[in-house]
Amino acid sequence: MNLKGKHFLSCDDWTKEELDVVFKRTMELKKQFHNEEQHLHLPWKTLFMIFFEQSTRTRNSMEAGMTQLGGHAHDLTADKMQISHGEVAKDTAIILSRMGHGIAVRNCFYGIGKKYLDEMASSSHKPIMSLQDDVYHPFQGLADLQTIFEHFDPNPKGLKVTVSWAYANTHSKPLSVPQTQALLFPRYGIDLTIAHPKEFPLSDFIVKKAKANALASGSTIKFTNDMDAAFENADVVIPKNWGGFGAYGVQEYLDNEEACKAEMSENLAKHKDWICDDRRIKLASKNVKLMHALPADRNNEVTDEILDNPNISIVFDEAENRLHTAKSIMSLTM
Ligand code: CP
Repeated sequence: MNLKGKHFLSCDDWTKEELDVVFKRTMELKKQFHNEEQHLHLPWKTLFMIFFEQSTRTRNSMEAGMTQLGGHAHDLTADKMQISHGEVAKDTAIILSRMGHGIAVRNCFYGIGKKYLDEMASSSHKPIMSLQDDVYHPFQGLADLQTIFEHFDPNPKGLKVTVSWAYANTHSKPLSVPQTQALLFPRYGIDLTIAHPKEFPLSDFIVKKAKANALASGSTIKFTNDMDAAFENADVVIPKNWGGFGAYGVQEYLDNEEACKAEMSENLAKHKDWICDDRRIKLASKNVKLMHALPADRNNEVTDEILDNPNISIVFDEAENRLHTAKSIMSLTM
């Protein structure tokens, strides 16, 4: 299967057969990395990475990944580029695609990020990769699924996974991680429960598509406003904060940004009890595993006791898998 040149903007744009090729390559690359064997799939090739926001895992998995594949990644931020003087996505994409072999962008501004990436993709003849936007975080979705395959089964049909909103007071996190999981997990037969306070829904079009994906693959997807009920008998729990963006249409939000942010902040303060702690973990399956995209807001989203429990927490395996899955996508598309 030839995936060279294919954009990676959402896992939902890739067929299951294509994603299976990605996971197969991931396993090969992971083995070679641990055996310290060379695997120079991209000698002399250049990836341009543009970050509009901070990153630890994404930035370093991509940059280290490019080095290990024999190429080089430019670590760019919008303020270092003419983007800060108004150069548009289309022009940036055309120019960088003439100089290198791939462009990867993180832009999570609600109503703006995915649009920016789509504009780049329509003008670039080299693959555009989303390093997270306001709608999707496809690299995170791949690492999550790879971690589930390793800790449970390469065919996770019937596995009960709960993605739950959790309280955090750091910043309004994008919807992109739970939305990616909502679309991707059911395609692999996972029975998914998504829990959130009523003020923190996912975007309507994602909920509809996630239900369609579950129906097509014979899995189930449930939505609830009860965190305790969502934890009952779960094999995997993913407690994770996200902002209340999904309660607003994009235009409604962009036209009333300050008012929406103030309302989101008021709503957030009502739900400090949405935490993954020992009491809630005991509601889940006896061998439950904790996953989290990280960074975790410790003792708000999840207690230290659970996050640092090696019998429960697989968050660092999940973080490491960001490297191997990123290398797989880059080596197949660039
Ligand atoms: N999970 C994730 O995307 O981490 P970073 O924000 O550190 O890249």
